[in-house]
Amino acid sequence: MKVGIIGSGGREHSICQSLKNSRKISKIFCIPGNAGTAEISENISLDLNSFEIVKDFILEQNIDLIVVGPEKPLVDGLVDYLEKFNIQVFGPNKLASQLEGSKIFTKKLCQKYNIPTAKFGIFQNKSDAKKFLTKTKYPTVIKADNLASGKGVYICNDQSEAHLAVDEIFNGKFGEAKNLLIEEFLSGEEMSFFIISDGKTFKNFGTAQDHKRVLEGDKGKNTGGMGAYSPSRLITKELEQKIIEKIIKPTLKGISELGTKFKGFLYAGLMIDKNEPYLIEYNVRMGDPECQTILPKLETDLIDILVASCRGNLQDINIKWKNKKSLCVVLCSNGYPDKFEKNIEIANIQKIKSDVNNLLFHAGTVKKDNKTYATGGRVLNFVSLSDNFNLSRENVTKNLNELNWQGGFYRKDIGYKVIK
Ligand code: AMP
Ligand code: GLY
Repeated sequence: MKVGIIGSGGREHSICQSLKNSRKISKIFCIPGNAGTAEISENISLDLNSFEIVKDFILEQNIDLIVVGPEKPLVDGLVDYLEKFNIQVFGPNKLASQLEGSKIFTKKLCQKYNIPTAKFGIFQNKSDAKKFLTKTKYPTVIKADNLASGKGVYICNDQSEAHLAVDEIFNGKFGEAKNLLIEEFLSGEEMSFFIISDGKTFKNFGTAQDHKRVLEGDKGKNTGGMGAYSPSRLITKELEQKIIEKIIKPTLKGISELGTKFKGFLYAGLMIDKNEPYLIEYNVRMGDPECQTILPKLETDLIDILVASCRGNLQDINIKWKNKKSLCVVLCSNGYPDKFEKNIEIANIQKIKSDVNNLLFHAGTVKKDNKTYATGGRVLNFVSLSDNFNLSRENVTKNLNELNWQGGFYRKDIGYKVIK
């Protein structure tokens, strides 16, 4: 089979690596990919805003399956467009992708199907929002409705912080804002919960704990994710059952009652409070860095799972996992998540040896004249699988020390809740 992967992050490199391990695949294209995917597949630079260019390339190359990594092309309707040309695509369509594309869409679905989530209000202008903010409890949470790469969420401790959030959102910091949400603050511990669905049935696809804040001890600004471990320390059979019955099943039912289906990965961002799950948000894709953390544990051939999801026969697949503890640390450019310098060489990268339990996934990297350069905020992902999280982190740290890159930094405390 020939496969095309859309995206250029650590998530896409880990998908590429899992597919590379399959004997059923003869060729992989990464569109556009990074320096890591270039080693194991062919990178192709296409304008992803032009669906037609993407479609023409897929048809010219006779690609059998397209896997969409990031949310933007999903929310923009790339799947719907390609399927019109009988191209097999793994990922949800535009309507189902509203689960990530519009927080209000998801909140309304939660209301209709009684899915546990934070209480909320929707506001169309600054003055209504600010009037409400005089009588609300703090901390309170204010969110832009549209896709904002995780940045459109404010946890406000008092009214003046809340006013700033309202002003920034309605002044267009995250694109044109017709609405914003004010939400009750949920306490508890977060967990990322994944399933894969074919529109008829679904299978669990692992759990993880992301570390979103830039500084150790979960302090500082929000980022795309500084590291993760899998499985989450919170997951039990009982909690899993509650998540499935109270959150996942009603959501998939809600999507099918809209006359469509959810095909792809669904990522529930949850708050767990006193062993009860609450939905914070949905993402219609794998998480990054959760994907890099979870996929190396997969024993079943990934291509069989993706094709079964596209063809609607996921029920016939038995997804098997290695019984290992996986931990991923993200190496970022100095300055991230604010401004950072680009095109800094990563000189020692060839020294890092990978094997099935110790992996290096690239994110913001490019290769020029046989040298690797950092181009993104999140640059490299170091992953290790072992029998305990402590050892996994030691293995990752050895590789980070070996690389000894002066252009970046990483959190040394990833997994602190599961490592003494
Ligand atoms: P989101 O982009 O919706 O995932 O939000 C980013 C982060 O903000 C989440 O990972 C949580 O840490 C936090 N957050 C969002 N909504 C709430 C809420 N209602 N209560 C507490 N924390 C929240
Ligand atoms: N790790 C958070 C995300 O992928 O959205």
